Amino acid sequence: MKIAFYDTKPYDRLWFSELGPRYGAEIRYFESRLTADTAPLASGCGCVCAFVNDTLDARTIDALCALGVRLIAMRCAGFNNVDCRAAKGKLPIVRVPAYSPHAVAEHAAGLLLCLNRKLHRAFNRTRDFNFSISGLEGFDLCGKTAGIIGTGRIGRCFADICRGFGMRVLAYDPMPAEGFAGEYVGVARLCRESDVLSLHCPLTPDTHRIINADTIALMKDGAVILNTSRGALIDSEALLAALKTGKLGGAGLDVYEEEAALFFEDNSGRIVQDDVLARLLSLPNVLLTSHQAFLTREALYSIARTTLENIAAFERGEPLENEVRV
Ligand code: NAI
Repeated sequence: MKIAFYDTKPYDRLWFSELGPRYGAEIRYFESRLTADTAPLASGCGCVCAFVNDTLDARTIDALCALGVRLIAMRCAGFNNVDCRAAKGKLPIVRVPAYSPHAVAEHAAGLLLCLNRKLHRAFNRTRDFNFSISGLEGFDLCGKTAGIIGTGRIGRCFADICRGFGMRVLAYDPMPAEGFAGEYVGVARLCRESDVLSLHCPLTPDTHRIINADTIALMKDGAVILNTSRGALIDSEALLAALKTGKLGGAGLDVYEEEAALFFEDNSGRIVQDDVLARLLSLPNVLLTSHQAFLTREALYSIARTTLENIAAFERGEPLENEVRV
């Protein structure tokens, strides 16, 4: 199978180049993102391999079909950037539902620890031989309440980490997990009682901006929000307003509503036009990483292996275990 691999970064090649030949895959790597305009690069390829910020709208899907592409292999868990209805009956879509829930949950915990104990500020101070610790106080996580929205693979790992810290765990999920060692409550109670609120649900019409001015108003003063799922789960302007007034104590973000135009690229020489992002980044209690929660060696290996297995299963005409069905 010839695979057109979009939005390639050096860390993608690591395992795909190592494992690809074992699956008989011939991979053409492109740095460009996938859009209707870049779709023609996939000419001659049976499969397109795409990532979180590629644009798989109806135009792109029709362009790929016209080129004879037979499969879209997402090398990620989320598929909110794919117009599944447009693809239905034309192009099967496979994904990697789980590669390392630990990678993402541990990153969320890292954001929390860094933000709470102000490690990012301490790092900068000590490098400048500024050994003052004034203004760096945090709070004990032990005894506090973590609120988790979405108790799938990642949310459950994050809950385990929080319990390890000695936190009480509340959760909201319309499909509660059996045996979950926390208390399921409604969104309103979760907002009211959480000291740390972490988002681990997919982006869907139901969860779009689930954190907004109304839900923030319910939250405890000084609460910390973590988002390692998808940017549009949070209304960024409402978040910024609550951080400016001090209503919220901090935000650890690995994703951002308008990230597609910026993330994964070096924009340091550009004048970034997104004023909400610029203002968020100017706050000392905002820690933003560039959608890197998945980026561990174990996760990269698992992503490459599952993606290549998905493609091989399609080639063999086997049932697609990881097909996105809508
Ligand atoms: P999962 O499918 O195992 O769990 C998602 C959970 O969310 C399920 O329990 C589901 O019932 C729940 N859910 C669905 N609708 C909901 C709603 N309206 N309110 C509350 N919960 C709801 O998914 P997993 O593997 O835990 O991943 C979660 C999300 O993390 C993904 O959808 C993806 O957006 C994000 N992600 C981010 C990565 C990163 O690098 N930052 C990497 C991998 C995933």
